[in-house]
Amino acid sequence: MERRTALAALVEADRAHLIHPLHFPAEHTAPLVAVEAAGAVLRDAEGREYIDGLASLWNVNVGHGRTALADAAAAQMRRMAYTAAYAGFSNEPAVRLAERLIRLAYPNLSGVYFTTGGAESNETAFKIARYYWKRRGQPEKTKVISRIHGYHGVTLGAMSATGIPAFHRMFAPTVPGFIHITPSYPYRYAGSQAEALEATLQAEGPGTVAAFLAEPVIGAGGVIPPTPDYFPRIREICDQSQVLFIADEIITGFGRTGRWFALDHWGVQPDVVTFAKGVTSAYLPLGGVMVSREIHAAIAEAPPAERFMHAATYSAHATCCAVALANLDILEGESLVPRAATLGDRLLQGLRTLRDLPVVGDVRGLGLMCGVELVEDKATKAPAVGLGARVLAEARQRGLVARIRAGQKGEDPIGDVICLAPPFVITEAQVDRIVEILREAIQACR
Ligand SMILES: Cc1ncc(COP(=O)(O)O)c(C=O)c1O
Repeated sequence: MERRTALAALVEADRAHLIHPLHFPAEHTAPLVAVEAAGAVLRDAEGREYIDGLASLWNVNVGHGRTALADAAAAQMRRMAYTAAYAGFSNEPAVRLAERLIRLAYPNLSGVYFTTGGAESNETAFKIARYYWKRRGQPEKTKVISRIHGYHGVTLGAMSATGIPAFHRMFAPTVPGFIHITPSYPYRYAGSQAEALEATLQAEGPGTVAAFLAEPVIGAGGVIPPTPDYFPRIREICDQSQVLFIADEIITGFGRTGRWFALDHWGVQPDVVTFAKGVTSAYLPLGGVMVSREIHAAIAEAPPAERFMHAATYSAHATCCAVALANLDILEGESLVPRAATLGDRLLQGLRTLRDLPVVGDVRGLGLMCGVELVEDKATKAPAVGLGARVLAEARQRGLVARIRAGQKGEDPIGDVICLAPPFVITEAQVDRIVEILREAIQACR
């Protein structure tokens, strides 16, 4: 009884003072107040358990309750929690982490700049692209081409790159010079769609474009893996037009797709990689940008008048970097990246069995990120909009939490997509339970 009163008071104080990401009171009438978590399971204030179907926000990759990460943070905090990392200062965890990331990522990369999250990483990448072309004597190359349905964060520049209109509506205008093209989305568009980049480059003039930005697998926009020929062709087009290719691996990095970095599936190397989320499995906030040797040299060899005037107080935060190093120890020590591939296959196979349901239009995924797109009509692929939220509510009653990409009708249609990306430590039984719960939840919405 006392516990319930305490919870009610907490929720009341929440309503009174806390502005949430995507704040909307009607969606917050019965918030899930998680108080404990272990592995792939969250426990709420009333003792109910839920499978954490999206690893919270695609990020708790090594699972909840890792005391080794708490110990790594505590040890670093006791020694020296933080100090400046501006030029002239450094710290060992940041250097060790940069060295280790460069060993793990694409072989053409050589430099790392650390941030505190995803959007800041993309903002930094846009600035690095502009910086690089100015250093190369092409200051007019400033535009960024990204994709419809892409999600890149919601700070002003990142929001402008994000290709989901709902995120722009109340914050417009977007920053000039951000252009969106059709993505590779086999369920709705035939062919790879790589030629959309070629056509847009021609229309804009390649001499005005700094970079092309894409998630290897669209995540929050509805889990959309590309056709296998898409990124190899994108790489060729970027090379021909002298446009940098920025891979937003904020979800796909650190094993989510069953490889350390996702473009490896198609043998492609980007010029710039942005990362966050899985680098610390969310135990502390950290993100960053990795750059190619050429870009790294442009920064390292700049004359005084062209020095790299980009910075942030918490770049290369010692404690966050120490936690990232311990997180990488877990990923490697427990072979969790191949595990994500195996368990991802099991999840995708399981979800495919839902295709007999009349509202399940498409089931897709790569590694441990999967999406179930809901439609009103399988023949016309008319998007289901609103059904996803009801399915999620039913799923929560049955012990599964996840998120949806809200669908849209009209231009660039997409049905509600149930997104799944559980921790890599999820068990086979829990994977099978996700599928069972979703079947029941969808059927309950008829
Ligand atoms: C692919 C991708 N890029 C960028 C971001 C933005 O990251 P953050 O929310 O840390 O700013 C996200 C967040 O979900 C993401 O999924």
